[in-house]
Amino acid sequence: MSSTAKEAAKASVTVTLDGTNRSTTLPLLTGTLGPAVADIRKLYGDLGVFTFDPGYGATASCESKITYIDGDAGILLYRGYPIEQLAEKSDFIEVAYLLLEGELPTGTQLADFRKNVTNHTMVHEQLRRFFDGFRRDAHPMAILCGVVGALAAFYHDNLDINDPRQREIAAFRLIAKVPTIAAWAYKYSIGQPFMYPRNDLSYAENFLYMLNAVPAEPYVNNPILSRAMDRILVLHADHEQNASTSTVRLAGSTGANPFACIAAGIAALWGPAHGGANEAVLKMLAEIGTKENIPQFIKEVKDKNSHTKLMGFGHRVYKNFDPRATIMKDTCHEVLAELGIKDSPLLDMAMEMERIALTDDYFIQRKLYPNVDFYSGIILKAMGIPTHMFTVLFAVARTVGWVSQWKELIEDPAQRIGRPRQIYRGAGTRDYVAVDRRS
Ligand code: SDX
Repeated sequence: MSSTAKEAAKASVTVTLDGTNRSTTLPLLTGTLGPAVADIRKLYGDLGVFTFDPGYGATASCESKITYIDGDAGILLYRGYPIEQLAEKSDFIEVAYLLLEGELPTGTQLADFRKNVTNHTMVHEQLRRFFDGFRRDAHPMAILCGVVGALAAFYHDNLDINDPRQREIAAFRLIAKVPTIAAWAYKYSIGQPFMYPRNDLSYAENFLYMLNAVPAEPYVNNPILSRAMDRILVLHADHEQNASTSTVRLAGSTGANPFACIAAGIAALWGPAHGGANEAVLKMLAEIGTKENIPQFIKEVKDKNSHTKLMGFGHRVYKNFDPRATIMKDTCHEVLAELGIKDSPLLDMAMEMERIALTDDYFIQRKLYPNVDFYSGIILKAMGIPTHMFTVLFAVARTVGWVSQWKELIEDPAQRIGRPRQIYRGAGTRDYVAVDRRS
């Protein structure tokens, strides 16, 4: 076979229905990086069969230029830049620009972008009333989900998703207002007055200010904490087509307004298998109590009937270390040292649990490594962030990724409404039976 034919052959997959002479040739698409993708769009038309991939473990749902993950090598790139370099050298607002626009900004572009985000941090004063409808002990994620969705009620004149300028304003509003709403959800839960955003502070400093300041006394920004917060936001900003991002894309594919799409993403992120894992890690460590109890807990995890998971471990894509977990672990040590916390029983337990798990065949065979959530909670707790705010913080950071992915979807000329099919396992066609004739 000639090299061209070999190339052509390699560039496609042929599917044949056994027992028939029916087959079809599916083109193999290749991206800049990563595995080739069989384009199955004509499969049903040619052979009358669907593909089946519950959980979408082997399905590419879209083409994207934003984030690349190599799960086997433990690589994470934002627009081609390694997460390790961005975490060390960049900051959250610059990363937000990079994710949204595709390139690192010039000095002027960065200044303008920072100013635009800063100028949208306040929310409509009427929005404050939404909080009063919640119980004080409502989970902040419930409040965040409801109030972000309600933002659409305040911008009905700016919801034409086909207008690039309105898309841009919606992006600024979401990236700027979600931290304000998140901080107010926390203040509401502890009965303290809301703190309005301050334009003289950086994104991370402002978020910590709105979380921790009180009107009764001046607030002193702690540069160690705001730098750590900024890095945590960078690490959580985007992550390819994860469950909450796919939720945002599916909602966006129907033409729903961006506030509704991001509220849908917040709802999906809340689950303990996803963004809720950071909160679940702290609960797990608290339940285990001491290092001496770890072997018994690991034994329970390995017993399928216990349905116990080692929270903060495992990942659908990473079958190696999650690079964010490695950076988070290093940041953990830095923050604790800089805060003068000599020993952290929680960190000790987490590191002992990691050591045990990484030498245990059960975890090795299943390629279960610490993910981004395993250490994040320990830093956040050391920074004084309450456990029920951990996923809220994840949502604040991921709003940048969600908005970037939503923007890419809307600007993709090939995008269509997402509408998966199914294998139907229900009853075959049958006739209605009147109630007096049913047994
Ligand atoms: C995030 O997708 C993303 O990118 C998400 C995220 C992002 O930035 O958006 O990275 C953020 O959500 C990180 C993941 C946080 N979740 C947790 O830490 C919860 C604990 N982890 C698991 O629930 C699980 O690992 C998932 C949900 C993360 C991944 O699940 P998969 O890919 O469906 O893997 P699986 O359930 O098929 O597991 C394979 C095997 C199974 O055992 P067997 O049936 O083969 O015997 O590994 C076992 C699982 O039981 N397993 C675990 C485990 N995770 C998987 N066993 C114990 N503890 C775990 N944590």
